[in-house]
Amino acid sequence: MASSVNINTTHAYQQCVSPDCAATYDVGEVRTSCDACGSLLDVTYQWDQLPVPDSLKWFEQKWARRNEPLCRSGVWRFHELLPFAKPEQIVTIGEGQTPLIETDGVGKYIGMDPGRLYLEYEGMNPSGSFKDNGMTAAFTHARTIGATKAACASTGNTSASLALYCCSSKLMQAVIFIGSGKISYGKLSQALDYGALTVQISGDFDDAMHRVRQVSEKLGIYLVNSVNPFRLEGQKTIMLRVLESLNWEVPDWIVVPGGNLGNSSAFGKAFHELHTLGLIDRIPRLAVINAQGANTLHELYQGRGLRWNEGSPDQSIIDKYYAELDAAQGKADTIASAIEINRPVNLIKCLRALDCCDGVVREVTDQQILDAKSQVGANGMGCEPASAASVAGAKLLREQGVIAPSDRVVCILTGHQLKDPTATVAYHTADQDEFERVLGSRGVSRAQFANRAVKVENNLDEIIQAIQLNS
Ligand code: F0G
Repeated sequence: MASSVNINTTHAYQQCVSPDCAATYDVGEVRTSCDACGSLLDVTYQWDQLPVPDSLKWFEQKWARRNEPLCRSGVWRFHELLPFAKPEQIVTIGEGQTPLIETDGVGKYIGMDPGRLYLEYEGMNPSGSFKDNGMTAAFTHARTIGATKAACASTGNTSASLALYCCSSKLMQAVIFIGSGKISYGKLSQALDYGALTVQISGDFDDAMHRVRQVSEKLGIYLVNSVNPFRLEGQKTIMLRVLESLNWEVPDWIVVPGGNLGNSSAFGKAFHELHTLGLIDRIPRLAVINAQGANTLHELYQGRGLRWNEGSPDQSIIDKYYAELDAAQGKADTIASAIEINRPVNLIKCLRALDCCDGVVREVTDQQILDAKSQVGANGMGCEPASAASVAGAKLLREQGVIAPSDRVVCILTGHQLKDPTATVAYHTADQDEFERVLGSRGVSRAQFANRAVKVENNLDEIIQAIQLNS
């Protein structure tokens, strides 16, 4: 294939994920579900009509052209694998400059052999989380259809990302829905600084999600939550960058936190496409990790045997579970705010990804999450609690013998350390009341890896003594 290609967007369309329905829609339409059957939609391509590279190595020539924004972007340098928009329509802010870090320190904590654990550090994105991968794609689509307002429900990262794309491009106004008290201050401060219209409603993320879908529909506002199939096209590139960092070798495991299940769905789609296109020769296994306090996927997949079932998952299992949640007024509850979600909108797509990637699902406690998070920090990276679910989940799977010490494992660190600092500070605090207030209520009883601040009088001798004593 030539070194630059003319992306022809007429071979992209939207398609219902249900194989029995498989209705198709133009990419110029704005929709989050299939008219015919109500299922989710994919963005699909007529690959045989498109200029697809014959090897992933082909993408390396873009590194030499990194002065061009579409080559510098860690999403759009893979444009040929998400060819739904013309280059001139793309809105990029340099997202996807993310490192894959080999870490024996965290590897040892998990129980891996040296050189086998990698962390994909998505917190390095412009707004501080993996969301920018998806936002650049959804935002680009929104632009192509002439949207002037874009909305999302969020626990913080999606809203910060949307607000950033809106304010840096000046193309749209951001409208964000948050559950009262359910957004981290750091993230709220981003959205406010970036000028987003911020709508705070009583309730949690699931409530905000429900409302933003209704409002977007009624007011014709473009919705950028991960029900939007274009979001997931961008998120596929997280896997492409993992492969790129591994010199195009496929790892044994990808471990990812599960909230709304957009990432896991996108990763499954990426591997399916790469395999179908002959660009990889095998598919890695996928582990999706729920927080125990928000464990819908774990309950349905591990507990009740829900499966993709060739595109006909047993809806009655899902309906029964949600009816039980309603009857018990069950609300998601975990310190990992970004995955505090009980009604994951991409559930069905995630089942497909688990099927394609011989996947497993696990749940981890807030205690396991915070201990894992402290180890990520202690080894030089740092992440928010939700991200550390991946590391805690990998440790659990190692202990269970599902992951072997010699496997090559990639955990996705979805968000930056500076989100949810209250949890981090409480974990390290020497103040027992503070610890109890923030973490005790979540079932966290100890901080095995705490690094406690030393309290000392404002007196030179005492300060010197304290430093000598503690260093
Ligand atoms: N990790 C982080 C840091 C997140 O912000 C989110 C979702 C997830 C994991 C869950 O990812 O939905 O792909 O399974 N955050 C949403 C938000 C809820 O509003 O920013 P998923």
